[in-house]
Amino acid sequence: MASDPFQLFDEWFAEAQASEPSDPNAMALATADADGRPSVRIVLMKAHGPDGFVFYTNQRSRKGEELAHNPHAALLFHWKSLRRQVRIEGSVSLVSCEEADAYFASRSRDSQLGAWASNQSWSLASRAEFEKRYGEMKAKFEGNDVPRPPHWGGFRVAPETIEFWTDRPHRLHERRLFKRIDGGWSEGLLYP
Ligand SMILES: Cc1cc2nc3c(=O)[nH]c(=O)nc-3n(C[C@H](O)[C@H](O)[C@H](O)COP(=O)(O)O)c2cc1C
Repeated sequence: MASDPFQLFDEWFAEAQASEPSDPNAMALATADADGRPSVRIVLMKAHGPDGFVFYTNQRSRKGEELAHNPHAALLFHWKSLRRQVRIEGSVSLVSCEEADAYFASRSRDSQLGAWASNQSWSLASRAEFEKRYGEMKAKFEGNDVPRPPHWGGFRVAPETIEFWTDRPHRLHERRLFKRIDGGWSEGLLYP
């Protein structure tokens, strides 16, 4: 009988929150373009559970464009303080507008204005240009709530596989691989 990978993830994440010096929710997100060429960057996990792992971003960014053409991703947590990694692979979908609105509303006003001001991943002529755009957005929304930009939202990676890697002496590491099967998970080991 396989263990529940989400319960195991919760246990590891709680330990990482207690021991990591910063951003225990930081994860590498790998995407690929329509030709299969990969790219990777760090994003913050803002929700997780049996439905998947959620991060927020600009949908017109490089990662957003790549996910629009190829809605599959890999995630990687590396918790150095614990000498552990978790690898997740799965298909990607947008979170609901309600979920994205609720998260956007919880962000600081400055972050909300930044989401409007930043054409994330696009070429920027100078820092001054960005600061000018930020100032324009600040003036535009003065005295009002800042709504979520239509191009800013959340993506959920629904895992098909989750691997838990634990450092062991002499590089005899432990790898537990969970694979989604009808209505549940299979569990097996991999050579390190
Ligand atoms: C610790 C850390 C957390 C980050 N969190 C996010 C995030 O949650 N969302 C995001 O869009 N970018 C985040 N970034 C910036 C991304 O790494 C990246 O620079 C940006 O999203 C543009 O990536 P792209 O051009 O591949 O789309 C974070 C960077 C770091 C170092």
